[in-house]
Amino acid sequence: MRLSRPFCHWLIAATLTATSASPSWAAKVEALHWWTSDSESAALNVVKESLAKQGHQWQDFAIVGGGGGSAMTVLRTRAMSGNPPASAQIKGPDIQEWASLGLLQPLTPLALDWERIFPATVTQHLRYQSEHVAIPFNIHRVNALWLNKAIFDELKLTPPQTWDEFISASQTISQAGYIGFAHGLQPWQDALLFESVVIAELGPQVYRQIFVEHHITPSHDQKLVAAFRQFRALRPIVDDQAIDRNWDTNARLLAENKAGMVLMGNWVKGELQLLGLVPEKDYLCLAAPGNGQTFSYNIDTFVFFKHHQGTDAKQAQQALAETIADPEIQIAFNQLKGSIPARQDISPAHFDFCSQQDIKDFKQFERVPSLAQGMANTGLTQNALVDVISHFFNHPRVTPEQAVQQLHVAIKATQ
Ligand code: GAL
Repeated sequence: MRLSRPFCHWLIAATLTATSASPSWAAKVEALHWWTSDSESAALNVVKESLAKQGHQWQDFAIVGGGGGSAMTVLRTRAMSGNPPASAQIKGPDIQEWASLGLLQPLTPLALDWERIFPATVTQHLRYQSEHVAIPFNIHRVNALWLNKAIFDELKLTPPQTWDEFISASQTISQAGYIGFAHGLQPWQDALLFESVVIAELGPQVYRQIFVEHHITPSHDQKLVAAFRQFRALRPIVDDQAIDRNWDTNARLLAENKAGMVLMGNWVKGELQLLGLVPEKDYLCLAAPGNGQTFSYNIDTFVFFKHHQGTDAKQAQQALAETIADPEIQIAFNQLKGSIPARQDISPAHFDFCSQQDIKDFKQFERVPSLAQGMANTGLTQNALVDVISHFFNHPRVTPEQAVQQLHVAIKATQ
């Protein structure tokens, strides 16, 4: 069996971590995260390997579930019982929420020139009051479309620019015996699709007013009704096997020439790459229909808890934070992950065509925090919104008008 390079890399590192004896001053750092797909594990392994070289031991606490919903539930339970892990993957406004409870370690001791090396879009999510309390790995683009080039060429299709074209391309592909649009009917995936529809229908400013500022006018309501209507029109093109299908399975279907399109954040590229696919040759990376000028972002960050078992782990916590911010690690991690580095002082030349495009688009486009990825709201509001969106998508009796009313309630009830 021929193993891909990143996979070999992963295997070797896993073996080394398991067998090498730790120096006596080594400390353990337990980290809770949801990076369990092949490419996510490979990327994370870059960090684990580097930490091990520094004599510290990574203690894995991985909770399966793309999007991180289950991981956050486990984290809350651990924290409530007074036993949080040393480190955890927490994103967006939830960072400030955890920090306001006094649970997070300020990262002041790190010798980082935060405002210079990270863009303001990133640092705004890292700060609580005057301190930085989270360290970023990357920036993911969420509103992205992935096309299987062989299928598009065979059927002489052009990349869809509108949702109608997207639906029609999906129908043509499925008539030819493939899956047109590989979606997984999990609430967070439904919300991710909705997010792209809303951005296309409402534009980034109105998206921001509604989902970030929670300022919803009657004219916004009308636009939202239209967006829900458009969203509903996508439901019939979702295939029968899509219930609870994971995002990485969808990526694999695309890689194996079984599906024509996937609409998902650019973590998909990590999987496609690990499966040996090459951008522009085997697949196309594009903006979701109508999303051309908007970059919906998702920033992966780790935080560090003050009170956790093993108080000697402070040194290891700091080493982990420094490792994540290290330029070499940011390059290696993001090459495998599909994202672009959070650091802005890294040359795009280290990355492939799709990531170079993302680096350019992040600079030029209107940036909005991803609703589906917990960058726009705290987990409480996000979960309530995701429930409304996914329930609407999967229950044809709910009207677009009712869904809009439910969105109002979800926002009001969780503020
Ligand atoms: C996101 C996370 C990404 C990604 C994806 C699928 O929430 O931020 O890094 O890998 O879930 O697991």
